[in-house]
Order: sequence, then C-alpha cells, then structure tokens
Amino acid sequence: MAYGRVAFVTGGAGDICSAQTRALVYLGANACIIGRNAEKTETVARDIAKVRKGAKVIGIGNVDVRNFDNLKAAADRCAAELGGIDFVIAGAAGNFVAPIAGLSPNAFKTVLDIDTIGTFNTVKATVDYLVESASKYPGASAAGADPNAISGGKFIAVSATFHYTGLPMQAHVSAAKAAVDSIVASVALEYGPRGVMANVIAPGPIEGTEGMSRLSSTDHVADQASKSARQPGTRGGSPSIPSGRWGSVRDISDATVYLFSATGDNVNGHVLVVDGGAWRRQGSAISVGLDPGMEYPNFLLAGEMSTKLKGGKSKSKL
Ligand code: COA
Repeated sequence: MAYGRVAFVTGGAGDICSAQTRALVYLGANACIIGRNAEKTETVARDIAKVRKGAKVIGIGNVDVRNFDNLKAAADRCAAELGGIDFVIAGAAGNFVAPIAGLSPNAFKTVLDIDTIGTFNTVKATVDYLVESASKYPGASAAGADPNAISGGKFIAVSATFHYTGLPMQAHVSAAKAAVDSIVASVALEYGPRGVMANVIAPGPIEGTEGMSRLSSTDHVADQASKSARQPGTRGGSPSIPSGRWGSVRDISDATVYLFSATGDNVNGHVLVVDGGAWRRQGSAISVGLDPGMEYPNFLLAGEMSTKLKGGKSKSKL
C-alpha cells in the first residue's frame, strides 16, 4: 500500500504516532520521525525500522514543533535523504490536567504553541513536498492510471474530541485542538485543488499511552483493567463507552492506513473519530483528571482533582 512512499511524522516517537509509523513502514514506506528527545527519537526509529527488511527510518531529534526553522530543516533533510515527502502526520502534542484556576497564561499558551502552532508549522514546512508528491503520484483515480496505483500528497493531524462538548480541566487542549481541526479544514480547501488530501484523526481514550497516563487516574486504569478481565473479548473494557472498550494504538494505525491508502483517495477535510462512540457520552464515558467516584460539579466546587496522574499538579498554582 505504501511501497516507496516517505512519511514525515512529528511526535513519531510517541505511543500513538510510532504505531502509525510502524504500520506505514510495515506496508512499504520509509519514514522520518521527529521529536524533542534525541535519544528516544533515534531509538524508536531504529526499532520501527526492524518491522521490514530494508526499511529506512530516520529519527530526527532535538526538534521542537514550536520552532519553525528547526522543523523546516528536518523536513528538508527528510526529503533530501529519502527522496521526498508523500505522507505527513502532525502528531506532536502536549497535555496535562488543570482547571482554568490552575492554568497560568503561559500554561495555556504552551499547549496552544505545541498543538496549534506546531500543526501550522508542520503544514508550512511540508506542504510544498506534499503538492509535489500529489502531482507525481495522483493515484488510481487519475485518467489512464493503474488501478493499483498508490497516491501521494496526504496529511493527517492527530486531534482529540474534547472540544466537541468542552471538558472540565481541558480548556487549553480543547481550544488547541479546535484550532487544529480548523487548520486542517483550511488545508483541505486550499490544497485539495492541488491534489493534497488533508484530514483529522480524533482518537478517544487509548489504552497504554503516555496521554492516558497523564489524563487518567491510575485508579481508573486499574478499574478499566478489571472490567476488561470480566468481559472476555474487550481490550481495555469500559461499559460506559458505546463500543465497550478503550481504544488501542492499532485502532489509530488502521485509520491511518485507511486514509493513506487508495481507500482514502477522495477523503478530504474529514474528521475521523476513532473512539468507539465515547465522545457522545463525554462526561460519563471520559473521566479526565478524576478518580472513580468524583462527580461533576462537586470536584470543581471542592477544588479537587485526581492526585494519581503522571505530570499532574495537585494544587492550583494561582
Ligand atoms: N498543571 C498546570 N500547569 C502546568 C502543568 C500542570 N500539570 N504542567 C506544566 N504547567 C505549566 C508550567 O507551570 C508552565 O507555566 P508557568 O511558566 O506559568 O509556570 C507552563 O505550563 C509550561 O511548562 P513547561 O514545563 O515549561 O513546558 P514544556 O514546554 O517543557 O512542556 C508540557 C510542555 C507542559 C505540555 C509537558 O507536559 C510536555 O512536554 N508534554 C509532552 C508530552 C505529552 O504531553 N504527551 C501527551 C500528549 S496527549
């Protein structure tokens, strides 16, 4: 499906984006993954390369998506070393749990800088390569094309579902991801006529990820695991999610393969929610920042949130 194509992935050493990259590499792509931590990025790149003999996966560390010049240099290096950029995933993101009372202006800005400005920077750094790729690889629907032709020029931003309803303690991420979705709509409108297909994947709670360890109390994680054990056939287990389970990284890589293969050749400006229907029960199905038993609005009025979160601050700093 991806034979000979090149993927450029920000946040590519993270749990979700490394799984997306791994799937593309398994299916024949080469890739550059971009990250802030050089050692982690290079180690994950080496590991992903093992998935297919002859695969080229370059880890480009010390790159922060907030710094356009560094990101552009990484994109240029990727294109120079691997022969172009055909697929882009804007996956770098930052998150922590904090009510507005505990968010300093700089904390709010930091998440907008990483998610929103980072996504815009990724578009700016790569879109000329995507236009070139779309023209070189128009895909199976082009006049006279091989029906098995693989297209190029595709963009995915990894977003979230919090902004569909709003969610307590996620004001910063909700605002940032709403803007991410909006940027992708603009890319779809402005670059669709040049052959670039730009879409959003919005994951729900994904088991076993850094994101979930930052957002979910360890008590909830244990609770989900015990429910899963009582429900054979579920992977994560949650009766309050319509599909009955938290998502897996495989769910997100499958959605990526759908959009980046011929099946996605006319999908543009779409938001693909992959959450088992959880956002439709947001508040009951998603327990960001809460221990079991904490109820809205009591935890807010009492100034409480879970203390069992990775990177969490138990007290408001304002
Ligand atoms: N609650 C409230 N404010 C917080 C916070 C928390 N849990 N964690 C950080 N902040 C604030 C800081 O206090 C600082 O504000 P200040 O200058 O007014 O004190 C601001 O956010 C920036 O923090 P800093 O640690 O300097 O930013 P950074 O750029 O080094 O890190 C983060 C960015 C904060 C998003 C960090 O969590 C991160 O690097 N995350 C990446 C991984 C990740 O989040 N993955 C999950 C994706 S879903």
